[in-house]
Amino acid sequence: MAAGVAHQIEISEAPTTVWGERFGEKRRLVDDPSIREILGVASKKGILSFAGGFPDPSLLPLEQLAQISRDVMNSSACVAAQYGVPEGACVLREELARLAAADGRSCGADSIVITTGGQQAIDLLAQIFLNQGDAIAVTRPCYLGALQIFSAYKPRYLEIESDDEGPILSQVETALRQHPKFFYIVSAFDNPSGISVSKARAISIVEMCERFDVPIIEDGAYKELYYSKRHVSLREVESERLRHAGGVYSNSGRVIFVGTLSKVVAPGLRIGWIEAPTEVREGVVLLKQVTDLHSSNITQLVTAEFLKRHSETFWPMLRESYRVRCQAALHAVKKHMGAHVIHCTEPSGGFYLWIEVDSSIDTSAMLSRAVREHGVAYVPGAPFFATSPRRNAMRVCFSNLSTDSIDEGIARISRALF
Ligand SMILES: Cc1ncc(COP(=O)(O)O)c(C=O)c1O
Repeated sequence: MAAGVAHQIEISEAPTTVWGERFGEKRRLVDDPSIREILGVASKKGILSFAGGFPDPSLLPLEQLAQISRDVMNSSACVAAQYGVPEGACVLREELARLAAADGRSCGADSIVITTGGQQAIDLLAQIFLNQGDAIAVTRPCYLGALQIFSAYKPRYLEIESDDEGPILSQVETALRQHPKFFYIVSAFDNPSGISVSKARAISIVEMCERFDVPIIEDGAYKELYYSKRHVSLREVESERLRHAGGVYSNSGRVIFVGTLSKVVAPGLRIGWIEAPTEVREGVVLLKQVTDLHSSNITQLVTAEFLKRHSETFWPMLRESYRVRCQAALHAVKKHMGAHVIHCTEPSGGFYLWIEVDSSIDTSAMLSRAVREHGVAYVPGAPFFATSPRRNAMRVCFSNLSTDSIDEGIARISRALF
């Protein structure tokens, strides 16, 4: 530049970048906005929402958590506010091992890894097991949050239909013969189907997975929410078999159990866990460290104390509250939807009814009208299918509405659909 000539700054439009071209494949593969949309719809004012799988806010143990938080900060602030270990705080793992044992799933605290919610547990397991294009066995329908994790690996889905007792055995066998990396299943009060695997069916599935050497990822998100009778898990069946055979879970287990306290304490805690045999557990700990070092220490200590002080009295109250709502929902379906219903599950625990209606009705297409004109929201069935969606189904979550609102809401769904 010649001396004395003023430097000219050209003002042009700020340069932009095309982000989409830079993103990796995972960003493109995880492209299903369904969960976000559901959460958005659920929070709109005036809508009776059967959409999000939330606990009722009036059933959250707010006072107890506030008191325990104060106590933890008074007694253990330095530990709570410091870095921790990836496998999670020992006190919490010990509490969870105690609960697991009481529920027939004997495993020591050393078999447990704390995760940031059940969702991270599934994600870490997917990271451990899956390569692109691997075969995995899943139920039809299947928990949408798990499908979204798995789909990032472009898996070959082997889908298994269920009847009232759980996955149909001939279909389980067909799937297992194709050597899937694992079989993922929500065995109790399934999200979305509401179905629970019977004890007899659980025994057959565990035997079959042993015979074909296929691990099971058993998601027990709703397990503690039984209405009257405790549910026997696949892990419990395996525990019994190992005991008879003189085996130990850490070496010989094949069922990996995923738990969460989101539905039975509070989802905002983000506390989940994995019970796994040693080699799997070691892999989970490594990946957990890489992902987020560890889950929040403060929440882990608060949660451990909550379990010690309150789970025995708190959970029976939750079970009864959700049982009453489930009865109200089933009654309302009979009353308002009647002959249009082809099938409706009668769950013995959990949050969900799965309703199949006249085959001519596309519940996805009807949703926006139901919300706009009738002020009611549900989740259409289609996103819960890994492939070939069934369009005439819906998931109705009754956990977050009063019995009166449940009746009114089902009446609105009926008016919107039929
Ligand atoms: C079957 C199932 N597994 C896992 C999760 C995720 O649980 P969390 O909120 O603890 O991440 C959910 C949440 O709805 C669920 O329904």
